[in-house]
Order: sequence, then C-alpha cells, then structure tokens
Amino acid sequence: MRASVRFLFAASILWLAAALVAPAYAQQPTTVNPTAERVQEEQLLKALKKAEGRGTLADTKSQLLEQPAGRDWRQFQQVTLPWIGAIGILGMLGLLVLFFLIRGMIRIENGRSGRTLVRFNSFERFVHWMTAFSFIILAVSGLNITFGRALLTPLLGPETFATWAQWAKYAHNYLSFPFTIGVVLIFLMWIAWNFPSGADFRWIREGGGIIGNKHPPARRFNAGQKVIYWVVVLGGGAVAVTGYLLFFPFYVTDMAGQQLAHLIHGIAGLLFIAIMLAHIYIGTIGMQGAFEAMGSGEVDENWARQHHSLWLEKQAGKGRGQRPAPAE
Ligand code: HEM
Repeated sequence: MRASVRFLFAASILWLAAALVAPAYAQQPTTVNPTAERVQEEQLLKALKKAEGRGTLADTKSQLLEQPAGRDWRQFQQVTLPWIGAIGILGMLGLLVLFFLIRGMIRIENGRSGRTLVRFNSFERFVHWMTAFSFIILAVSGLNITFGRALLTPLLGPETFATWAQWAKYAHNYLSFPFTIGVVLIFLMWIAWNFPSGADFRWIREGGGIIGNKHPPARRFNAGQKVIYWVVVLGGGAVAVTGYLLFFPFYVTDMAGQQLAHLIHGIAGLLFIAIMLAHIYIGTIGMQGAFEAMGSGEVDENWARQHHSLWLEKQAGKGRGQRPAPAE
C-alpha cells in the first residue's frame, strides 16, 4: 500500500514537472542544439539568424561568420548581377549592331558647308574627356569584378589574373575621384540646357531624325542628349555615393546598408555602361560630323542645321560662329 502511494506521488511530481517545462520548451524557436556533433547549418541559421564566433579583433563585426542576408547578397553578386549585366550590355551591343546594319551612319544630308561654329569650348571638352576616360577605366575594371574571374582565369591563369585584378581594383578606386569631379562639373556646366522643353516632345514624336528621315528642330541639346545628361548626373551620382560607401565601409551604414549599397552600385554601374555604349556609338560611327563637337570643338553649319536648328538660329542671332573651316 505504502509503495503504491509513493509511486503515485512520484508520478504526479514528474507529470507536474513535465507540464511546467513543456510550454517553456515549446517557446524556443526550434530544438536545434548548436553544440551537437552534426548541426545542420541551414537549421542553425534559421534558429539563430546568424552564426557568430569569438575573436580578438576590436571590430566585433569580424566575428560574424554567416547570416542569411549574406547568402542572399552572395547569390545576387554571383548569379543575378552577372545576368543583369550580360543581358543589358550584350543586348545593347546587339541593338547597336542591328541599327548600324539597317540605318548605317547618319550623314550630313546637304554635305559639308565648309563653315563651322563653336559647339563646346576647351573647358567643356576637357571635363567631358576627363569624365569619359575615367568612366571607361572604371567600366573595364568594374566589369572585371563581375565577370573577370570566370572569363579571364582560364585564359590568363590564376596568378596573372590576380595581378591584373589587383591593379584594376586600384584603378577602380582612384579613378573614382576624377570621375566624380567630372560628373559634378557636367551637372553644373550643362544644367541650363537640360530642362525639358516643348521642342523635346516633337523631337521624340518624330523619332529624333534618327528613326525616320525628318529633322525635328532642337536647341543646344535634343531630348535624347537630355536623357544622356540625366543618366550621367543621376547614374553617376548613384554609383559615386554607393561607391564611396563601399570604399570607406561602415562609417555611415551597418551591414545591411553595405549590402544595399553594393546592390545599387552593381545594378547602376552595369546599366550605366549599357546606356553609355549607345552614346559612344552615336558620337563616333553612328553620326557623321558629331565627334568633331568634342574633338576640335567646332561643328559644320550644315550639321548644326540638320540636328540643332534652334541652337544654330540662336548662335547666328548672337553673331557667333560661322567661320570658314580650316583647309584640310
Ligand atoms: C569614347 C567615348 C565617348 C565619345 C566618343 C563621346 C562623344 C561625345 C560627343 C561627340 C558629344 C557631343 C554631342 C553633340 O555635339 O551633340 C558628347 C556629349 C556628351 N558626352 Fe560623351 N562621349 C564619350 C563618352 C562619354 C562618357 C563616358 C560620358 C559620361 C560618363 C559622356 C558624357 C557626355 C555628356 C553628358 C554629353 C552631353 C550630352 C550629349 O551630347 O549626349 N560621354 N560626347
């Protein structure tokens, strides 16, 4: 009899203890034991949101080994971003080749007049070429970060690729300065001509004289050039700000901010390159007489009449320009 009472008492205590402990246990996110011999990494990350160690460095961020957001970031850098870049850049190159095969170079319809007028002064050309030169090196070294390891290591071997990649990274860091200064100067020096105007809508409706054969009137910059201007100012601003956040990490943002800056820098940089390919095309083989504007700074009067008739009228009104072209 006493034995049965003792047994019942012990059983009730055990039941009570189990009833008290069970809800507390159920509140735990999972039953993962981080020190178990075989811990599933995936489970551990889900339960703890990060995997941290201990370290001797003063910067405690270095002790964070892994976090789910880091994996999303890695997936974006290694898979999504290369796809965005490949589609954007190869797609643009494909379109430009197709356009060139169909349309060819846009010629000065009435031929050269032999009279020229100043389109960009030497300061404007200096700023343009400083920005363009820095941009091209930044673009090549940036593309190397996204595509270099996969495309160049098989050709160059790991050691040569590592040396090239290190120099490319130095260039990418330090040419950011003349590029940023260039973007700021472009913003200031051409803002007055880059607000939308009534002429822009007609220019767009008539295909800019690029698609079709009309020659819609345009001021100093047509609607297409205004788009390029704002892409340079806003796209350049975005890559510069996010680039400096990456160059000087954690001064302004936390880990999540760094990852966001990296994401914006990558997307904006690659789309910027794709769009500038169209600009470079039209400034070189796409349009007869355009390169001179940024080369010597002077354009032929017939070129100006065909592409920027309102600007030509204004310049003539001011008594500027139209002088005989130098003998060839
Ligand atoms: C090899 C590369 C490049 C060439 C051949 C080139 C050529 C030209 C030419 C000929 C013009 C004058 C167009 C006109 O008179 O109507 C121009 C204007 C301009 N360029 Fe470039 N360019 C190059 C790269 C760049 C780069 C990399 C940037 C900026 C990142 C840039 C920004 C601009 C801007 C904002 C304008 C004024 C708006 C416009 O005409 O579209 N250029 N460029």
